[in-house]
Amino acid sequence: MTQHYTTQIIKTLAAFSLFTFIACGTKDSKALAERKTSFNSGWKFHLNDSIKDRDTIGTATQWRTLNLPHDWSIEGNFDEKSPAGVGGGALNGGLGWYKKTFTVKAQDSTKLTTILFDGIYRNSEVWINGHYLGKRPNGYISFRYNLTPYLNYGDKQNEIIVKANNSKQPNSRWYSGSGIYRNVWLETTGKVHVKADGTYITTPVANTTKANLKLQTIVKNEFAAEKSAEITTTIYKGDKEITAVTKELKLPANAEQTISQETGIENPELWSVEKPELYKAVTEVKVDGDILDTYETPFGIRTFKFDATKGFILNGKHVKIKGVCLHHDLGALGSAFNTRAMERELEIMKEMGVNGIRTTHNPPAPELLDLCDKMGFIVMDESFDMWKQAKNPDDYSKDWDKWHVTDLQDQLYRDRNHPSIFIWSIGNEIPEQWNEQGAKIGKELAAIVKAIDTTRPITAAMNPPIVVNNNVTTQFDNAAAQPNALAASGALDLIGYNYAHQTYTQHQKNFPNIPFIATETTSALATRGYYDANSDTIKQWPVRWDIPFNEGNPGNTVSAYDQVQTPWGSTHEATWKVIKKHDYLSGMYIWTGFDYIGEPTPYGWPSISSYFGIADLAGFPKDVYYMYQSEWTNKPVLHIFPHWNWKAGQNVDVWAYYNNADEVELYLNGKSLGKKSKQGDDLHIIWKVPYEPGTLKAISRKNGKTVLEKEIKTAGAPAALKATADRATIKADGNDLSFVTVDITDAKGVFAATANNEITFTLKGNGKIVGVCSGDPVSHESYKGNKHTALNGKCLVIIQAGDKADNLELAASAAGLKNSVIQIKTAN
Ligand code: GAL
Repeated sequence: MTQHYTTQIIKTLAAFSLFTFIACGTKDSKALAERKTSFNSGWKFHLNDSIKDRDTIGTATQWRTLNLPHDWSIEGNFDEKSPAGVGGGALNGGLGWYKKTFTVKAQDSTKLTTILFDGIYRNSEVWINGHYLGKRPNGYISFRYNLTPYLNYGDKQNEIIVKANNSKQPNSRWYSGSGIYRNVWLETTGKVHVKADGTYITTPVANTTKANLKLQTIVKNEFAAEKSAEITTTIYKGDKEITAVTKELKLPANAEQTISQETGIENPELWSVEKPELYKAVTEVKVDGDILDTYETPFGIRTFKFDATKGFILNGKHVKIKGVCLHHDLGALGSAFNTRAMERELEIMKEMGVNGIRTTHNPPAPELLDLCDKMGFIVMDESFDMWKQAKNPDDYSKDWDKWHVTDLQDQLYRDRNHPSIFIWSIGNEIPEQWNEQGAKIGKELAAIVKAIDTTRPITAAMNPPIVVNNNVTTQFDNAAAQPNALAASGALDLIGYNYAHQTYTQHQKNFPNIPFIATETTSALATRGYYDANSDTIKQWPVRWDIPFNEGNPGNTVSAYDQVQTPWGSTHEATWKVIKKHDYLSGMYIWTGFDYIGEPTPYGWPSISSYFGIADLAGFPKDVYYMYQSEWTNKPVLHIFPHWNWKAGQNVDVWAYYNNADEVELYLNGKSLGKKSKQGDDLHIIWKVPYEPGTLKAISRKNGKTVLEKEIKTAGAPAALKATADRATIKADGNDLSFVTVDITDAKGVFAATANNEITFTLKGNGKIVGVCSGDPVSHESYKGNKHTALNGKCLVIIQAGDKADNLELAASAAGLKNSVIQIKTAN
């Protein structure tokens, strides 16, 4: 059976558009700006477990003023005894209170006002002017409350209070953060309006000559009387109007109705990974000649299918999904969402050749999806890390019965128009997968998804979907293997494998006709810039299934050659070698793109952040980043490692990742150490080099001509700092970020790859230091301080713009080293 999913909506820049009217860009932008306004600024926060409920909140005297998004856990100290455990990053949760006073314009008294929380971790409760609005246990879901009946208008103040209760721990297998950690919005509409998340745009026909758009819109009348409304949806490509359709309808009092409209676009520009073309539908609701609501739905037009033999086909072309899994924390910023920080992560991944993101293991911040729409990523949007059966004592399983239907529906309605989403994952490594309960719940969830979106396949991340014999060597070769209950239930359109790359080539035999996706792979481990440099003597831990986890390196380091993996995973190369070989293996989502706080496998305390990332917690690439880049991009790559600061006479393995060349020649202090080239399915080459200080140089050549040269030099004693900003000019909006990398060098400017000096940062001007991080999983220095110890020559400092344009001056200094001063401009 071939799964065929024709995508979403239509669009284009038709040379001949069907309808034309004067572009109403200004009016629309204004109406849209009024519909949704940021509600992030000027909140007061109080952290205190002793205030148990709203009635005693008045006893709190100390309130801190802050802007959202905010994560209070990241501000605390790492604590070995933290109830969150090292799995949760050894940072404490607790009970937090937020409040904000605000006024609402008198003229809005005839309108509806709704508050939208993109996510609160967790168990939030909300009151407006003393009225209880409700509770939402799920820490990752977006939700709204209608404030209208309780608001004061004009000069009279309103007070909103939010309680976030993250005290019962552990409730997560990774660092969750605590508080109102995503954006908050006020939405204002007329009383006849498009229901929030109430549009659905699909493209039953979509090709390069024509797209047929099907627009479904839920319109609500909240007047106590019947109303006649005119609903006009205009399709734009950028500012250019392409087509528009209008429908008139009568809406009974206090009722909602779904209307269907159809239109078409000639010669649509299709959304693809390389060219993520977007359109938008702007829906205007008119009653008695007045525009009561303007609602925008961005969308894209593409077709795709997952095919059991051909793999993933996008717009008729085979595309291998080269994805990574991402948790929601943003390193030193904790879980406090910031669009630029997210964009930077995606840029780093894109540069490596990544084309897919899995939102592990929960609905992401909506802005992540907007970025993936714009940047061209193939997203697997995941819902749950557990169902009814707990993974942690106080996790979401406790809320499952009451909330899973609502949470899943809300996620689907919110996300279903994003062209970047191609797969719904209804769960990760769900314990029930092995029993009939898993099959039953799987079918229930699949039905909920299909009722809201039929254009994308459903999967679940299973581990692995075959029952295995617990024998080390024949782990995945058991001829009597049986599909697990969830995989066999028929609920899934795609069979999702977590790990078990050894079984992938048996997929077609085990699951004839059901397409394949590697939902999660690899789980290899590395500390950036740390190397056990001689493979003849290093301990191969915990590569083997029978070596316990408590073996390891002093200082909880993990060698960054791609040799160390979890027992359930593989090296980076091993899984990719299988996936790349067969078209029917649609692709993979590697665990993980970036290190994240918590889950410091294979270690425990004092490690507090993970070792899985292809880039570290600061976003600095580990070496294997370049293996993927050499395989996943066309740009010429030559990367050699390790560093060149060893003991005289020591034997050092020198690895090179390269592409676009026939061979690489390595030289030490001008003397050739020989030419090497990859054989068979090799993804790297190795020289075993007796160390002597000096310069190691590699030259890649094609047909005898140099493609790239790369040098690594022995560094002398650390002598200076060198700060480099990723962007020297940022927006003066109180939000934008400049990520500054500080390298330690010797007196000649050579990168000091083993230096770990403590660096102090000072910032002058209208901006602030919001994060410092070296990527060291063992560091207990605060990410929120103004000093930090570098890891293997590098440290990151994150600067946030104030809201007034300025020239910021950042100085990085360290005892005995020459400091580095740079300017960062903030502009309106
Ligand atoms: C997987 C799990 C992930 C993470 C990973 C670490 O089994 O789905 O959340 O725990 O293992 O290797």
